[in-house]
Amino acid sequence: MAKKPISVDKLTPMLAQMELERLKAEISKHNQAYHGEDMPLISDAEYDVLMQRNTAIEAAFPELKLGDSPSDMVGYLPQEKFNKIKHRVPMLSLGNAFDRQDVVDFYERIDRFLGLDGQPIKLTAEPKIDGLSASLRYEKGNLISGATRGDGQVGEDITINLKTIYEIPQQLQGDYIPDVVEVRGEVYMSHAEFKALNERQMAEDNKTFANPRNAAAGSLRQLDSRVTAGRNLHFFAYAQGDMSEQNVQTQMEMISQFKQWGFSVNPLMQMFDNVDGLIDHYAKIETLRPTLGYDIDGVVYKVNRFDLQERLGFVSRAPRWAIAHKFPAEQAKTLVNDIEIQVGRTGALTPVARLEPVSVGGVVVSNATLHNEDEIARKDVHIGDMVVIQRAGDVIPQIVKVVLEQRKADSVAYEFPRFCPICGSKADRELNPKTGKEDVIRRCEGGLICNAQVTERLKHFVSRNAFDFDGLGSKQVVQFYDWGIIKDAADIFDIEAKDGNEWDTIRKRDGWGDQSVDKLFIAINERREIDLDRFIYALGIRHIGENTARMLARSYETVEVFLSSMQAASIPIGADGNLFNEAYADLVNLDGIGDVVALSLVQFFAEDNNLNFIDKLLFSVATIALEKADESSPVAGKVMVFTGSLEIMTRNEAKAKAESLGAKVTGSVSKKTDILVAGPGAGSKLKKAEALGIKVLTEAEWIALVSN
Ligand code: IVH
Repeated sequence: MAKKPISVDKLTPMLAQMELERLKAEISKHNQAYHGEDMPLISDAEYDVLMQRNTAIEAAFPELKLGDSPSDMVGYLPQEKFNKIKHRVPMLSLGNAFDRQDVVDFYERIDRFLGLDGQPIKLTAEPKIDGLSASLRYEKGNLISGATRGDGQVGEDITINLKTIYEIPQQLQGDYIPDVVEVRGEVYMSHAEFKALNERQMAEDNKTFANPRNAAAGSLRQLDSRVTAGRNLHFFAYAQGDMSEQNVQTQMEMISQFKQWGFSVNPLMQMFDNVDGLIDHYAKIETLRPTLGYDIDGVVYKVNRFDLQERLGFVSRAPRWAIAHKFPAEQAKTLVNDIEIQVGRTGALTPVARLEPVSVGGVVVSNATLHNEDEIARKDVHIGDMVVIQRAGDVIPQIVKVVLEQRKADSVAYEFPRFCPICGSKADRELNPKTGKEDVIRRCEGGLICNAQVTERLKHFVSRNAFDFDGLGSKQVVQFYDWGIIKDAADIFDIEAKDGNEWDTIRKRDGWGDQSVDKLFIAINERREIDLDRFIYALGIRHIGENTARMLARSYETVEVFLSSMQAASIPIGADGNLFNEAYADLVNLDGIGDVVALSLVQFFAEDNNLNFIDKLLFSVATIALEKADESSPVAGKVMVFTGSLEIMTRNEAKAKAESLGAKVTGSVSKKTDILVAGPGAGSKLKKAEALGIKVLTEAEWIALVSN
């Protein structure tokens, strides 16, 4: 029996919040059991006790009442915020192709990966809808939840809003309906509806939307689903997520199944078995684009067979078996009013062109990136020039070229600063250790004395793939820094313990009422435990992106091992003071880590400032090792090397397979290697493995090992 709950009058705000969350989950579980499955798990009286406790806590802490509180469950009341839903199968994004050659490369990559030797591969081609993706979960044929894509792993629960879309069936039709079905697709707004909506908004003095996509997003994220219902959104189904079983084997079959279940599917999907067919269809869709009545931004190609999709798998967040062939970017002409320099987290000076605002494909653009000093010189952009800009999808607009005929006679070339515009430190271009060439980036050498670098580091620390505190975004973290409440990111965890006076001043500031301060503390405390990969990423080490951080977390497993290995790698030994030791060798030997990344790590961990910062952070934060891909697989946790020519699986496929089973694949044999898979023609690696007594498998043995 569970222990007796704390009485309501003894709850602190933090405990109350946790208790409300717990009760909500508990009550919704019983609602589902009672209403959804006709299988109550508790008596009505016990259910009432839960509801009463929930109501009592809400009465004592009205500011903590959840947006989707169980007490509001009946009726049609607006919500305060959205809950999170974890996707059981991640929602992937797509790689891009911009021209024919990119499509050829994509097709050939698949051919090579699967070792098909030019046998035709069937691919579907369909419009890429410019809307928002959503995932719909059906259990026993009933729509039980719907979520946004979010970061691909966790989305927001927008079930009640999705239920207002008539093209989303509340119940699946047909004979074959698995227990669990997840259908994914795009929510979008038609041109006609977009125009009508903006006219209504204007008439009522409300803000208008820049394009149908923004309008659809704004409509879906309504806290009051009555507003969504009035927006007339549409939905095309195009992919599946978690499925308890399946009786279709291809994209084509899946789409016709969606139709039978009652979904709208895009009528322009067709299948081809060669690049020319795909490109012809792309051209056809491009000509139809102005007549479709909704926005599309390209054509998506997908390998038709599911078994091949599975073998191809995915790289980071995009499947190898699909690609988005984008339509060319839209262009416009405008004036460069100024060129400003932004200083990044690692000191990089990035020039940004401030433009006379201009509308490009329905979006008003007023800034464009100029990348770096060389880019400005190459494009010869002067302040005051008329330029052609372009924008593709959500990427930052680019300057294509200067309209030289319109250049003023007295125009002078832009001079790139040699000093940091923020802290005044010298800004130099480093020499690349490998090529000896000057880096394209000029970097401020101010480090932690540079305000821009410090605040950019803070912003990185709180960003979505790092600590991602609810309610503490880049704006708030910079405020805290400016107000002197924090000096570095580790201080975030000490804010709550600060003396009351300081907090009283914050509570009085705009936008920081009691409620948001309490919520902030809860959000911060939730992050006192964090996945190791996020932790490593959050440190903001140059060249360490999300993927490298994940790989490091997988390889070193715990924060202690990671830190001691990095410090060991940072100790120079050898007569000439060259950096080379065993820990460094292990590091560069990891797949995906070259000298540039390794040196960046070593430099970071050789700095006392950084080590002190990590110590301080670890005082407040515990890290969680990554879930092992598959503990039960025979290669889980093993260090593997593939050599020689493989004949059944391609090298890429073998590597991807090994990694998906939890192995670490490296490029060279050392005493850390557990298994070497050697195909015909294996040479020095095989010899070395034999000398070291490492287990050697033939390709057939490897396949036998992993195919059951
Ligand atoms: S398939 C595994 N098909 O594009 C592949 N995506 O850039 C999952 N999108 O997040 C996506 N139309 O929001 C697919 N016909 C289509 C699409 C489509 C639009 C969006 C979707 C996705 C994004 C990826």
